[in-house]
Amino acid sequence: MLIGSRLIQAGTRLLSSVRCRAVPKRVHLRRSISYCPVLHHGEYERQNPKSPDEIVNVTFIDRDGEVHKVRGKVGDNVLYLAHRYDIELEGACEASLACTTCHVYVHSDYFDKLPEADEEEDDLLDIAPFLGETSRLGCQIILSKELDGMELTLPRATRNFYVDGHVPKPH
Ligand code: FES
Repeated sequence: MLIGSRLIQAGTRLLSSVRCRAVPKRVHLRRSISYCPVLHHGEYERQNPKSPDEIVNVTFIDRDGEVHKVRGKVGDNVLYLAHRYDIELEGACEASLACTTCHVYVHSDYFDKLPEADEEEDDLLDIAPFLGETSRLGCQIILSKELDGMELTLPRATRNFYVDGHVPKPH
């Protein structure tokens, strides 16, 4: 009788361990959901730097020759940084590489510090009015610490080939 009950106990333990392996705990059955905060165009650029190490000072020279010294931060997109400070860098296609209205001249001291333009940007620059030696599309420039002090000059005019009449407003 004693042997029989021990056998039954051992069998129950074995069954429960098999059940545990066969049917995973509930937590294993749930899908994992990850959450990333969604930032809209320019929202990141409207946030202040969290530490002095992040600060990247940029000078914009607008079409009238007026100088605007602004404080950006690592990771800022130059187009949206300009919008934050009401600098007239149009950006009609909102950084989707379909216009040339974010055209800027990068000061020669900083031009080589930028990653090279890819083919798509180069193709657009080829059709940008007043193309210069150091022309880039502002929406493709992302600030890094190395670019601290960078000077960007807006061309006399831009032409919007693709997005007729659309002038984006900061969200
Ligand atoms: S905003 Fe259109 S290419 Fe930069």
